[in-house]
Amino acid sequence: MNPKTTGVNFAVFCSGQGTNLQAMIDAAKKKRISAKLALVVCDNPGAHAIERARRAGIPVAVFDPEDFASKKELEAAVIGELNRGKIRLIALAGYMRILSDDFVRRYKNRILNIHPALLPSFKGGQAIKDAIKYGVKVTGATVHFVSEEVDAGPIVLQAVCPVKNNDSEKTLLARVHKLEHKIYPEAIELFARGKLKAAGRRVIVK
Ligand code: GAR
Repeated sequence: MNPKTTGVNFAVFCSGQGTNLQAMIDAAKKKRISAKLALVVCDNPGAHAIERARRAGIPVAVFDPEDFASKKELEAAVIGELNRGKIRLIALAGYMRILSDDFVRRYKNRILNIHPALLPSFKGGQAIKDAIKYGVKVTGATVHFVSEEVDAGPIVLQAVCPVKNNDSEKTLLARVHKLEHKIYPEAIELFARGKLKAAGRRVIVK
């Protein structure tokens, strides 16, 4: 991640709504991201994210797990597509599959993820619900590099918001999404400009 990487192609992996994908599409349009959003990878043929990508004219590759005998075969197909698109950075945005260790190692420090909590708090798939249930007064969003351990890679950016007394999952998710849509494009731009430097667990923003 050290060399200046302006001009990088990046891919967004998603499974669902694609609001983070949309934030990246919008940021690219406004020239807030200099990297090129060259590919959307989706594992869910019914995902709204696919529609968003098509509307923006971005190539979409759908890999339905049902069409593959194993995770290894699915990931081999994904890697083929990433190679064809000369993809340098992968941004996971609500991609609800765990990547294999081999895949993570192949793209070491080149896979980002967005998580709807202040890691290391509330790892896993129910971060919003868990934060409300636990009773924390603040939560937020985290962009981190993906490592073999889920939700545990080096943290790139975080942003904080309050948890209000009357919050439902829906109202809190909306507040967290606002943070995500701001810091995820920022993190991609930092990567693209070669501004992220790994120092053990810490990521220094130059
Ligand atoms: C985002 O809120 C993201 O933080 C979360 O999925 C949502 C996807 O929304 N990811 C995780 O919970 C990963 N553990 P989107 O499809 O509208 O971008």
